[in-house]
Amino acid sequence: MVGLLLLLLLLPFLLYMAAPQIRKMLSSGVCTSTVQLPGKVAVVTGANTGIGKETAKELAQRGARVYLACRDVQKGELVAREIQTMTGNEQVLVRKLDLSDTKSIRAFANDFLAEEKHLHILINNAGVMMCPYSKTADGFEMHMGVNHLGHFLLTHLLLEKLKESAPSRIVNVSSLAHHLGRIHFHNLQGEKFYNSSLAYCHSKLANILFTKELARRLKGSGVTAYSVHPGTVQSELVRHSSFMRWMWRLFSFFIKTPQQGAQTSLYCALTEGLEILSGKHFSDCHLAWVSAQARNETVARRLWDVSCDLLGLPMD
Ligand SMILES: *[C@@H]1O[C@H](CO)[C@@H](O)[C@H](O)[C@H]1NC(C)=O
Ligand SMILES: *[C@@H]1O[C@H](CO)[C@@H](O)[C@H](O)[C@H]1NC(C)=O
Ligand SMILES: *[C@@H]1O[C@H](CO)[C@@H](O)[C@H](O)[C@H]1NC(C)=O
Repeated sequence: MVGLLLLLLLLPFLLYMAAPQIRKMLSSGVCTSTVQLPGKVAVVTGANTGIGKETAKELAQRGARVYLACRDVQKGELVAREIQTMTGNEQVLVRKLDLSDTKSIRAFANDFLAEEKHLHILINNAGVMMCPYSKTADGFEMHMGVNHLGHFLLTHLLLEKLKESAPSRIVNVSSLAHHLGRIHFHNLQGEKFYNSSLAYCHSKLANILFTKELARRLKGSGVTAYSVHPGTVQSELVRHSSFMRWMWRLFSFFIKTPQQGAQTSLYCALTEGLEILSGKHFSDCHLAWVSAQARNETVARRLWDVSCDLLGLPMD
């Protein structure tokens, strides 16, 4: 009886002590590639915090010239300096990119295309999660607008450069949350009904559908595309939900650090011989299953066309 009581009292303490091991177990995937990147150019969106920052740091560590594409340039500059100091790589640059405004996306792309000869790695990492209903500058629902349409436009505008620089790679940070996502073509902007959690899931499903469609279209071009689930990571994504913040704190010692969360993006960006798996979805540095919705080619093609239409891009 006393023993049981003692155990109960000790349990939280034991769990706390074991947390690093448990966290390690839960975050098994580690990018073990030793590829170095001198002379390579990478763009990481949302690179001033969390997984994006860790991804950018690792790419810089390996010698790439890395563009941090951030909405908040001041914050970005601080991070750039931090990465420069840590890696000794001076070629970490900050450029303004607001994915909720197509004007900003076009301006970013124009400047980038004018200043850089190459682009070898594009990491579409930025994202919003569970915002209250709101719209982008162009009138798109915020999740669909930033997570999907914003990156869709960015990828489109940089695609020629990626092709010229082949072999090159595009990595899209999606999520396990895509399993709850549906593409409601009659309510793409959430005007008929809206649920902030589900809106996030829908946009993450869109990321996977696009990765597949893009990979199909890019076959033979030397540009390959991957989508990843980074794992459950501490990040600023939960800033819009007090419940999520509370849960995060409660379970925080089981949750991946941003550095662990960056591993699968890095794995897809760097691993040699991964080209044959273009279009696939990865989690913990392994191939991962996606929902039936995410495998539906009809939906993927229609979403591609609808997105081109919304963004005023030529349909090809
Ligand atoms: C990434 O996702 C965006 C938005 O869904 C899409 O437009 C883009 O084509 C995707 N890129 C890749 C490589 O999957
Ligand atoms: C949003 O959807 C989730 C998942 O289906 C559900 O649990 C939640 O209650 C919904 N929220 C609202 C406000 O309807
Ligand atoms: C793809 O989705 C469409 C529309 O939701 C559906 O009618 C069709 O049966 C799906 N196809 C497959 C192979 O699941």
